[in-house]
Amino acid sequence: ILNDFFITGITLSIDKNLIMDLVKKFGTPLYITDVDIVKQNYENVYKSFKENFGKNFKIYYAMKANFNPFILETLKELGSGVDAASPYEFLLAKKVGFRDKEISFAPPNASREEIALASENGIGTLIFDSLDMINTAKGIHFDNYGIRINPGIEAGFNEKVMTGKAYSKFGIDISHIRDAIDKANEIKIEINGFHAHIGSNILDYEPYKLLMERFKELSKFLMKKNFIDMGGGFGYDYYNGKHYDISKISKAISENFPMEFNELRLEPGRYLVVNATVLLSKINGVKEMGNKKYIQIDAGMNSLIRPALYNAYHRVELINGDSNDEKEVFDVVGPICESDDYIALNVRLKRPKIGDYLIIHDVGAYGVSMASNYNLRPIPAEVILKNGKIIGIKERDDLDSIINKYKIYNL
Ligand code: LLP
Repeated sequence: ILNDFFITGITLSIDKNLIMDLVKKFGTPLYITDVDIVKQNYENVYKSFKENFGKNFKIYYAMKANFNPFILETLKELGSGVDAASPYEFLLAKKVGFRDKEISFAPPNASREEIALASENGIGTLIFDSLDMINTAKGIHFDNYGIRINPGIEAGFNEKVMTGKAYSKFGIDISHIRDAIDKANEIKIEINGFHAHIGSNILDYEPYKLLMERFKELSKFLMKKNFIDMGGGFGYDYYNGKHYDISKISKAISENFPMEFNELRLEPGRYLVVNATVLLSKINGVKEMGNKKYIQIDAGMNSLIRPALYNAYHRVELINGDSNDEKEVFDVVGPICESDDYIALNVRLKRPKIGDYLIIHDVGAYGVSMASNYNLRPIPAEVILKNGKIIGIKERDDLDSIINKYKIYNL
């Protein structure tokens, strides 16, 4: 066994022969996901909340983090629900077999057609993101209607993911909640829940305490049967490959949970999948510019945009090479025509050879789900492992699958 990826006691081990086998079969860049790790992550979160909330909570996996159907299937079997941000998300969740009542549709905005489609598909919960969206939903039935609030709390690893910050584009301003409830009543919609998502990759429990205070202020508006949806955001330490201790969050929430509410919902995305996936890439060259050294790999911002977009850190590791070799400092860069096209900066590695392989860690969340065809490169293939065996693949795009949608238009 060559690589042991230690993750809060969870170890994703991929042996070198298997890697070489996968590369031969599927080429690179290649996303490799182990669903057993997803299972362990889910069980951790579940156990931790069960201790404090018994049966009065439910996990809705935020599938925007990774919509791979094998991951969805794994979570469905464990009893998870789904937080869907778009129609294709809830339709895919249904195809995989999630019960429609256990799907919550929380789009950042939506048309009447999209809301109607959710209702026709029996989706259990609709979350309103604006006053206009309440009007848009007039006459469309759901079992549960929630209001997403903007709690005005700053949390998250990067300005770009602080969704709950005051004046962000998300949710309804707290000072407009009265209006929102009145508007809903007017059109005979009963609001029975409040929702918030404060940010992503939060390595702290304090913001969640604050969030509970905000919810408490809103309890006066609620019906008897009701819920709080606290969103996701649970953090992961990408430097050390460790999850933030979820029991701290679950404890903080239970101690501050407003008793007027009777159900807690949570929407973890990253936390459940982040360490279940690695991205395997091939080295196409090494070059020097003055005293700068670059390792050029075949995976770039088209395959994994997080470094370019958020300066996000991902551990990288060379597969080949003698551990006695001296290390040098490199930037690991991709094949895309953009200066920001990098995967890792200033990392110490042995000097690789052309054709060696590099592993990029912890790419299960917002990795392939944010990949693109920029520079007309294919979205990477994916392999899904369970018990060390391949149980599924996603084929790499080929040129036809990308461009076949272009047609000459005849009037
Ligand atoms: N619920 C809602 C309403 C959300 O908008 C999100 C994520 C989640 C739950 C799940 O959050 P998580 O547990 O994964 O933090 N692309 C960024 C992250 C963007 C998160 C967007 N919303 C990244 O690569 O870090």
